[in-house]
Amino acid sequence: MKRIDKILSEQTNYSRKEIKKLISKELVLVNDRIVKRPEEKYDDEAIIIKIEGKEVSIKKHFYLLLNKPSGYVSTTSLNEDKTVIDLVPDKYKTKTLFPAGRLDKDTTGLMLITDDGVFSHNILAPKKHIKKIYEVVIDIPISEDMIIGFKNGVKLNDGECKSALLEKTGEYSSLVTLTEGRYHQIKRMFGCFGAKVIKLHRICMGELYLPNDLGVGEVREATNEELEKLQSKK
Ligand code: URA
Repeated sequence: MKRIDKILSEQTNYSRKEIKKLISKELVLVNDRIVKRPEEKYDDEAIIIKIEGKEVSIKKHFYLLLNKPSGYVSTTSLNEDKTVIDLVPDKYKTKTLFPAGRLDKDTTGLMLITDDGVFSHNILAPKKHIKKIYEVVIDIPISEDMIIGFKNGVKLNDGECKSALLEKTGEYSSLVTLTEGRYHQIKRMFGCFGAKVIKLHRICMGELYLPNDLGVGEVREATNEELEKLQSKK
């Protein structure tokens, strides 16, 4: 059972303040009965909600944020490997849940797990220009050559990469911003300069930074505001 104001803030784009107002004006109905107070609790999977006479469509998809730990694969495992789906609480497990984009087994950080293929495509397709930012540590000092090379487009054996931003944050550490996601892309890009990636951690997708409240290995539903940020290309 959940408070009706919480259900509505999860399932609609109304703000908490607007929801309070709608309830006080008696414009929210649950199973055709007027909701009197925002604290009233309902089973969000078994009710019909109407706002100003219009039925609110129940959320059709799940959008889960994960702070991926090292040691988990983000594909379906063909061997004994643990997969990121193993970290998802049972109540979210549907047949179609999948990670939107891949992180290598040893890569950590922000991932979206969803059952919404269109949303996933919208944040991953290179044409959509949604950026992903990674903290990267390599085994040799970062050179000017690397910075210029990343900007001009590193040539990999499966084609030339789009321009990427390499910002030095220390002798060996950097932030790398990509707008595409090829197989082992950052490792292969640095590999072209004779460097080995030692640490790779995704901190941002779109405008959404890894939330502070999401501990390593934790999964929680994204808020509407977070989903907007995920799709933002400011
Ligand atoms: N680039 C890589 O090489 N690996 C990742 O997991 C993500 C980006």
